[in-house]
Amino acid sequence: MRGLPWPARLYLVVLTAGAAAVIVQGRPGTLDWRPLMVLALLFLVCESVPTLLNIREAAMSVSFSAVLASVVLLGPTAAAIVGSVAVLSVRPGLPLVKRLYNGAQFALCGYAAGVAFTEFGGSTGVPRDVEAFIPLIAPFAAAAVTYALLNFAMMGLLLRLAGNVGAGQIRWRSMGQLFLSYMGYATFGLLIAGLWSSVKSIAAVLVLLPLFIARWAFGQYLAQQRAYDATIAALCQAVETKDYYTRGHSERVSKASVMIAEEIGMGTERVGAIRYAGMLHDVGKLGVPTKVLQKDGALTEEEYAAIQLHPMRGLEIVRGIDFLDEAYAGIMHHHERMDGRGYPMGLAGPEIPEFARVIAVADAFDSMTSDRSYRGARPVEVALDELRKGAGTQFDPVMVNAFIKAVEREGWRPTRSALPPDGVAAEAAAKDHDDPTVPIQVVSER
Ligand SMILES: [Fe+2]
Repeated sequence: MRGLPWPARLYLVVLTAGAAAVIVQGRPGTLDWRPLMVLALLFLVCESVPTLLNIREAAMSVSFSAVLASVVLLGPTAAAIVGSVAVLSVRPGLPLVKRLYNGAQFALCGYAAGVAFTEFGGSTGVPRDVEAFIPLIAPFAAAAVTYALLNFAMMGLLLRLAGNVGAGQIRWRSMGQLFLSYMGYATFGLLIAGLWSSVKSIAAVLVLLPLFIARWAFGQYLAQQRAYDATIAALCQAVETKDYYTRGHSERVSKASVMIAEEIGMGTERVGAIRYAGMLHDVGKLGVPTKVLQKDGALTEEEYAAIQLHPMRGLEIVRGIDFLDEAYAGIMHHHERMDGRGYPMGLAGPEIPEFARVIAVADAFDSMTSDRSYRGARPVEVALDELRKGAGTQFDPVMVNAFIKAVEREGWRPTRSALPPDGVAAEAAAKDHDDPTVPIQVVSER
């Protein structure tokens, strides 16, 4: 609480007071406590083991399906009480202030969902048969949408007040995916309510069991993803240790590539693959002699040829990594040019794989907006102008336009490169093979 700005603290107090008020005014003493206890327990179990999603920004708990079941079976006040149980969730290390916030937010979302359910014609109580169940579906959908939207709004406001996110940083695509996940998990609430008349509280177990199996399976998938990420990070670390002045470059190229990929509407799996490709695009530098990478001054033809080989070297290094898939093409061809004057194959236009056309733009942009030993970072606008100038000859205009749009919407935070530690790189690289404004100088050996 101490680290929060005062508007966020005030917001927390208002939410907590609001949650307490809706529970008290709903006369909780008149509720049927047995099903309420079962649903609260169900909520607590789900809340204590949050389900991770394949969306980087989000991890969610499916506990809200218990709140939505309460909406149908017991009404808005019961839904608020079930939501407030989040205060007691078994998550070691979760601070009290976060528990209070979660409890208040879930209680208010549950209450609002209950009101929406009633307003849209839903009647509270156990649906006894199919005739009673079917008319509940539309009001239940309204309740689920209300819950999800209010939850997003409250969370967004908290992040804004706490200064963690600006309006321009909201990733609408991820929010859309999260909303769909909410709607999918909401059906568990309807399922519990539907089963309640025949199997009572066993309905909770029937719903929980497949849910936990699914969660376990997804946990395995995430563990695999983390192993992949660690492999990629180790390779990037090796490259950046060798070529110190491009520190952080791989990660930023990856980020910019993902921005372009999302802007042109690539599917989730391909966006994941291009994230890896961006990280590893220069992994072939491991196969280029350090003295060539760090050479101050013009390169000999032989040295230049060694640099030009780095995309091929990169492919050789990562060829055995199965999960990289389409990323291979991005690594191999990220220095091709639209006019066919690039390397290593001299491909032109649409012959260049799409991943490579994306990475070429991201790579050049980050190179221009980063500090180098021989020049400072260029402003973002100047770098975007350079991309515009190179569109059609060096870069794919579609990718350039997509990136400009994404930067205008989401912004780009230029990074200052760290100075190398003592003893590292006494020499300064006087060239940059990624920077389109600084052509590499090559001298004839003859
Ligand atoms: Fe490169």
